[in-house]
Amino acid sequence: MDRNLALEFVRVTEAAALASSGYMGRGDEHQADQAAVTAMRSAFNSVLINGRVVIGEGERDKAPMLYIGEPVGFANTKEAKKINDTNIFPEIDIALDPLEGTTICAKGGVGATSVIAAAKKGNLLHAPDVYMDKLACGIKAKGCLSLDNTPEKNISILSKKLNKPISDLTIVILERPRHEELINKVRLTGARICLIGDGDVSAGIAACTQGSGIDLLLGIGGAPEGVITAAAIKCLDGDFQGRLIFKDESEKSRAKDMGIKDYNKIYNLEQLAAGPVLFAATGVTDGPFLKGVRHLSRGRVQTNSVVFRSQTKTKRYIQTEHNIQI
Ligand code: FBP
Repeated sequence: MDRNLALEFVRVTEAAALASSGYMGRGDEHQADQAAVTAMRSAFNSVLINGRVVIGEGERDKAPMLYIGEPVGFANTKEAKKINDTNIFPEIDIALDPLEGTTICAKGGVGATSVIAAAKKGNLLHAPDVYMDKLACGIKAKGCLSLDNTPEKNISILSKKLNKPISDLTIVILERPRHEELINKVRLTGARICLIGDGDVSAGIAACTQGSGIDLLLGIGGAPEGVITAAAIKCLDGDFQGRLIFKDESEKSRAKDMGIKDYNKIYNLEQLAAGPVLFAATGVTDGPFLKGVRHLSRGRVQTNSVVFRSQTKTKRYIQTEHNIQI
């Protein structure tokens, strides 16, 4: 993958973050999401790829833009059709969430981001829109924890690997009724818990980032977000596992149509995001690893983004001042 694409993808997440930040705290999740989607869709037109959305806003009949399967990138614009050979543009699969944490943005809360992960065609898991049981940790415990273990066992191993007493560990968990038992079990180990309302992509990244104050992500969140998180964590050399959770038979049959054969499989990083991957994110509201959009003076707006590459494990932090009067 061309490394310069990384910066092109940041322009795309910046556009979505700028657009949705206008709806911060206005209580309208739909409008905030819509603004992010529209801006991201249009920003893709200038990226020199032949892209395809594999994780997006939903099925084609439900999402008008950035739907699963939608071609994106310059190769799919009218301008590109005038060029004889569109094969010059690399075929890239894209997993995206124009506004990860729509509720966070609508409430003006902590950690809404705009995110994109990209890999060569065929290298990202086509995850159905179901739930996923997730585990994420940093490099020191890589390969040592498992979704097949009890939370107690994972926490005990983590404590040894990080050389910290269990009472110094912090586990991040989405605050949901489905996690009542998990939360109780973790509390009984003596570990500390950070309960979050939304946004387990940022939480997963925090679990792999030294000094973030988070040591482990556990619990069930969206499967599409799981694939995006896995791509980011691959670049950070951390560890991630995910197991799809199906509510009913209809979800299983949809998954089967998307090529899922083993419903109980634990997916590792390579099975979720194979080969070289890129990850880009821009903060919408202030969060654990990115500041949100800042309005400076008239017409000047600042964004804070990251771009990670798995090949080199580079993390770039990009602060941009935009002139939005143009
Ligand atoms: P949205 O960006 O779609 O609002 O998702 C936010 C999120 O909190 C994800 O980070 C998480 O994976 C998922 O929702 C959890 O789903 P649910 O809210 O149904 O528990």
